[in-house]
Amino acid sequence: MKIAVLPGDGIGPEIIAQARRVLDVLRQDGLPLEMEEAPLGGAGYDAFGQPYPESTQKLCRAADAVLLGAVGGPKYDNLDRPLRPERGLLAIRKDLNLFANLRPAILYPELANASTLKPEVVSGLDIMIVRELTGDIYFGQPRGIAVNELGEREAYNTMRYSESEIRRIAHVAFGIAMKRNKKLCSVDKANVLETTEFWKEIFIDVAREYPQVELSHMYVDNAAMQLVRNPKQFDVMVTGNIFGDILSDEASMLTGSIGMLPSASLDQNNKGLYEPSHGSAPDIAGKNLANPLATILSAAMMLRYTFAQEEAALRVENAVKTVLKQGYRTADIFEAGCEKVSCSGMGDAVVAAL
Ligand code: IPM
Ligand code: MG
Repeated sequence: MKIAVLPGDGIGPEIIAQARRVLDVLRQDGLPLEMEEAPLGGAGYDAFGQPYPESTQKLCRAADAVLLGAVGGPKYDNLDRPLRPERGLLAIRKDLNLFANLRPAILYPELANASTLKPEVVSGLDIMIVRELTGDIYFGQPRGIAVNELGEREAYNTMRYSESEIRRIAHVAFGIAMKRNKKLCSVDKANVLETTEFWKEIFIDVAREYPQVELSHMYVDNAAMQLVRNPKQFDVMVTGNIFGDILSDEASMLTGSIGMLPSASLDQNNKGLYEPSHGSAPDIAGKNLANPLATILSAAMMLRYTFAQEEAALRVENAVKTVLKQGYRTADIFEAGCEKVSCSGMGDAVVAAL
């Protein structure tokens, strides 16, 4: 079980260190995990002048899974676009063909007060957002900034999806719905955009292969509204790259803390990149304050999806539930009556719970 570990930038190295400690426990207990680190994002630029250096690419291609911290930081904001940390992230997604991005939004009962929504609206929340990750306006050509026929500067991006791209993400989404409550909501803007009208048409076609799944469709503006109005109506949501980017941030905040949410990005063969849903939080980097639980939970997703080690995945997830029950909280989820811990302090607690 070869894992490429990419700490990245900002709080990345701190949270990855805690996830590694958790994986080390599992290795000592017999899982044949091998880990090797490489730089990505700003760290890649600093080391090799590229956000996705060749040596990192080589390591990731050879690995079974990639565990990533986070990329980006103000230090890199003025670099040319192709050299920016985010480009490293987009490049690795595309290079490894990680088209299926799974972003769960789960509310842990102990954290019900962390949400900005009323407890009755969010208690028991458990949504899985499936975001297509290698197509859409993120990668569509043509794109650029140029002078048009009238001599005025103009910028353009292209929203496009091929039938095969839509079919493969549809199968992933229906497969996940089959393992859950068999309810799938496909989010589109079919009333305006041909690309997503086509998306909807393909989903209706693929649905015929999954008669047990109840497929519904929702426009993205309505979906954004419904997510804060009554989020528990959703079980699995599936959508394209740009809508998924936006809706998954919105859904994450229903749970109160983006610091708790893991993610998986999978290829056709369940090779995957696993990363917390939050960013590199440059403001608290190096202060041992960050919440490592999203990264630890991302490692659990890796055990489940890439290595098919359901038992080990549950062991890690249960350890996280235990430390929350015990009252340990990093600053982002702290409330009165709990015990405030540092990033490494949270790692200590999870290791002890394991
Ligand atoms: C995400 C992030 C990335 C994205 C950025 C950092 C390129 O927002 O993973 O959601 O837009 O996909
Ligand atoms: Mg995003």
